[in-house]
Amino acid sequence: MTEINKITVLGSGIMGHGIAQISAKAGFEVTLRDVDTKFLDSAMSKIKWSLDKLVEKQKITQAESETIYSRIHPVVDLKQALSGADLLIEAVPEDMELKKKVYLDVDKHSDSKTIYASNTSTLPITEISSLTNRPNRFIGLHFFNPPQLMKLVEVIPGITTDQQIIKVGIDFVKRVGKEPVLCRKDVPGFIVNRIFIPLIHEAAYCLDRDGPSMTQLDSAVKFRLSFPMGIFELADYTGLDVIHKATSEMFSRDKKVIFPHPRIKELFDQGKYGKKSGSGFYSYSGEQYERVSLSEEDSKAYNPIKLLAVALNNAAWLITNKVCTLEDLEIALKLGMGLRNPLFRTGEQFGIKGVVDTLQDLHAKYGDFYKPDNFLLSLR
Ligand code: CAA
Repeated sequence: MTEINKITVLGSGIMGHGIAQISAKAGFEVTLRDVDTKFLDSAMSKIKWSLDKLVEKQKITQAESETIYSRIHPVVDLKQALSGADLLIEAVPEDMELKKKVYLDVDKHSDSKTIYASNTSTLPITEISSLTNRPNRFIGLHFFNPPQLMKLVEVIPGITTDQQIIKVGIDFVKRVGKEPVLCRKDVPGFIVNRIFIPLIHEAAYCLDRDGPSMTQLDSAVKFRLSFPMGIFELADYTGLDVIHKATSEMFSRDKKVIFPHPRIKELFDQGKYGKKSGSGFYSYSGEQYERVSLSEEDSKAYNPIKLLAVALNNAAWLITNKVCTLEDLEIALKLGMGLRNPLFRTGEQFGIKGVVDTLQDLHAKYGDFYKPDNFLLSLR
């Protein structure tokens, strides 16, 4: 069995620095690599902020915080960063051309023992693995934002991934205190993003078609669908740049997976990336962690059944197509998106018949994206 001791994380953005932090918290020595010290400085100060928060909340002691911080080594030189790595976790921006370039360089300097993992949220694992000199020792390990708090990691084997590497991936996820869910097919959006990304577009259509305010719709998502955040709030939190790229990628692979609303591309084109750029769907005052004010009162003004219907229909698709089991789906939504109530239970509470009627109505008006999945039909 391959032993994992030394981790290298490529890319120090939101996901990369978080993955480095949790790996160090689990006792691994971690090299965090980026192309410029300014990115690494910013990442290390975010890690410091996060560790301080965990100390403040008494999740770790001050001494543990210092030990964790000292296990993370920021490095710019790629050769140095890769030296001796047992596991490489790539978390560079979601662009196939960029990944191609990165893996070309990585292949030149990696030890033969190094296992490659990509934190991609939507790009096909089989295709990325085929860019490398070790497609059989390559796996998708998809963490969720913020990695420090979200328990889920989707484990996605490509077509050529060795069984033993799947096991190593699952073991690693458990060692960093996370819950692995196996995504059995390399489909666009894997499990969670297959539900999350189309839902943002649907929410934008709901604004046009039904006329609620953004906070009314978001309050309904939070208080009536049991999400921890509103859907526009979550889009801003995740980043409209990430969402736009995920949308383009998923849509280019399968036109039925998403019904794109132009607002997402507009926000992206205007540089309104959400929280990180100061505005997106909402406006923000600064870099600090900040929440949108949503209320139970406001949630009464809007019935979110269309959003629920689209989420359930995509969830049903995953089950029909054996990408995951119903049980794994609910674990993924609970631990990756923080849903406080299982999605299908919320469906039952609203009434599956009403959900299916809603989809049939939308299907008749707007086309095949809304065609109810057979699994959902069977629950009526
Ligand atoms: N490290 C440590 N602490 C952090 C933190 C971090 N990185 N980020 C936030 N916190 C702290 C906050 O500062 C806050 O502390 P205070 O109480 O002192 O203010 C605390 O954690 C959270 O408090 P909230 O009242 O805001 O709490 P919450 O109960 O809503 O939890 C959350 C926050 C965990 C982010 C929760 O809202 C949640 O689960 N949101 C959904 C997130 C989600 O869906 N992520 C997946 C996005 S999709 C994705 O990542 C995939 C992709 O590929 C695009």
